[in-house]
Amino acid sequence: MGLLPEICVTKKQINMEELSKQANGFLDKKKVVILGGSAGIGLATAKATAALGAEIVIVSSNQRKLNEALTQLPANATAIAADLSKEEQVEDLFTRIGALDHLVFTAGENLQLNTIADVTVADAKQFFDLRYWGAFMAVKYAAPNISKGGSIVLSGGCASIRPGKGWVLGASICAAMEGFTRTMAIELAPIRVNIVVPGLVKTDLWGNMAEADREAMFDHFSDTLPVKYVAGAGDIAQTYIYLLTQKYSTGQRVVVDGGYVLV
Ligand SMILES: NC(=O)c1ccc[n+]([C@@H]2O[C@H](COP(=O)([O-])OP(=O)(O)OC[C@H]3O[C@@H](n4cnc5c(N)ncnc54)[C@H](OP(=O)(O)O)[C@@H]3O)[C@@H](O)[C@H]2O)c1
Repeated sequence: MGLLPEICVTKKQINMEELSKQANGFLDKKKVVILGGSAGIGLATAKATAALGAEIVIVSSNQRKLNEALTQLPANATAIAADLSKEEQVEDLFTRIGALDHLVFTAGENLQLNTIADVTVADAKQFFDLRYWGAFMAVKYAAPNISKGGSIVLSGGCASIRPGKGWVLGASICAAMEGFTRTMAIELAPIRVNIVVPGLVKTDLWGNMAEADREAMFDHFSDTLPVKYVAGAGDIAQTYIYLLTQKYSTGQRVVVDGGYVLV
């Protein structure tokens, strides 16, 4: 169970009928590796991908969370524990996994918001270890094993477009991930490489905040976002499925933010 049990993804949050029309059998029996698949957006994407017939491998650093996630996935899903900020573990992971069809990267620790004045340079550099360098290493070691017709979907965030005070690191990582995505789409072609850019989503990512502050933030955005609600992980998983199955899309970011960047 995650930090925020009340916002665990249920199948009902994902419109499977729509997704299966869209996927049109494209993911059937494909091997999809989801790094960060034990919780939040990664777990929701694992459920949606599995429901479309894919064979899922979820990876995260915490075996207990992986075991819990496996109870929510079909019996042929497997889990591997690895700290994706450590190069030797990432390299070993892809040696163990071998051939795959699609790679999804959603791993990230809880957010640390700091102004440039308040963060040390050492901490600032360390914050890139998982979200940027982890994704970089995963793509480096997975790409040679990705099949013809395969793809990679990475994760950013709309702080790259509309940052606020205290978002210097989050916004910088998200912007770097978009540049990385476009470059990989060229270097790794014909493997397709795209990135999902979510706005606010109810997941364990916000587990560092006091519950009252977190609920106040969700309430505020439910009121101010043009869509008048804050997304659950299942809403965002639909966008990963779109990019996994849209064969004509590469090097693209898809923003799914309830209109946040506009208001
Ligand atoms: N939620 C939002 O509002 C939001 C908004 C914009 C962008 N995003 C981005 O979307 C992505 C997914 O976020 P989320 O909301 O789904 O977060 P989440 O619910 O906190 O899930 C994060 C996942 O990353 C894994 N993880 C953490 N540290 C790891 C490590 N060292 N090695 C391997 N796995 C690790 C966690 O599992 P373990 O703890 O088991 O390792 C978990 O599976 C992140 O890049 C986040 O920045 C989220």
